[in-house]
Amino acid sequence: MLVVIKQDYDEMSKEAALLVADLIHRKPNCVLGFATGSTPLGLYQELIRMYREEGLDFSKVTTFNLDEYVGLPPEHPQSYHYFMWENLFKHINVDRRYVHIPHGMAVDVEEFCEWYEERIKQAGGIDLQILGIGANGHIAFNEPGSSLGSRTRIKTLDEFTKRDNARFFENQEEVPKYTITMGVGTIMDAKSLLLLASGNSKADAIHATVEGPITALYPATIVQMHRKATIICDEEAASKLSRKYSGYLS
Ligand code: PGA
Repeated sequence: MLVVIKQDYDEMSKEAALLVADLIHRKPNCVLGFATGSTPLGLYQELIRMYREEGLDFSKVTTFNLDEYVGLPPEHPQSYHYFMWENLFKHINVDRRYVHIPHGMAVDVEEFCEWYEERIKQAGGIDLQILGIGANGHIAFNEPGSSLGSRTRIKTLDEFTKRDNARFFENQEEVPKYTITMGVGTIMDAKSLLLLASGNSKADAIHATVEGPITALYPATIVQMHRKATIICDEEAASKLSRKYSGYLS
């Protein structure tokens, strides 16, 4: 696992964008896994800038998103469909046919989840999966206690996450109870991982992820077992690491 510590959020975002752009240059038809949340927004802005100013070409890229709220239609402003189109996809030349985001209104959720897993396989697997991390150690919506071998499935949101995500809704009651999320096993199948974390609120989670024991109570800790995982975080998020210098391998 490579841990890269950058000074602040902007530096973290730019470093992450360089990594993503490098992959697209090397493999124009790569498969990218995208994440939502506030953390990757700076990365997405930088990718948009690279598209506009440097001609970074997304036309052959296939995308898979990590998760979506059950019960929110794609046009709902809090849906992850909406988030991805507003914050990235509509600003770049991604081909709509190659975009995959779990469908929150799927009639048969189980069938949908199987289809999603199959689509990832058919696309040749995910080359690079971008991840945020919850302060409770979740990755995607794999909440504490998630099976470390889990696949795409329906999950109940943790009370902590519901409170955390209430900031995006009018009140906590409006936060959906269920989500469709790639499983921890699905994420671990990606050929490389890029986990981003910024701010003091993520310091405990980064400490556990890099230096703690692997446990389903902190699903992000499984990243230690990945063959090609990069964590890019800022100094605040890295503040509780005991071995702390930029660009170290653990
Ligand atoms: P955040 O969420 O980027 O908004 O902090 C990350 C996550 O919950 O995975």
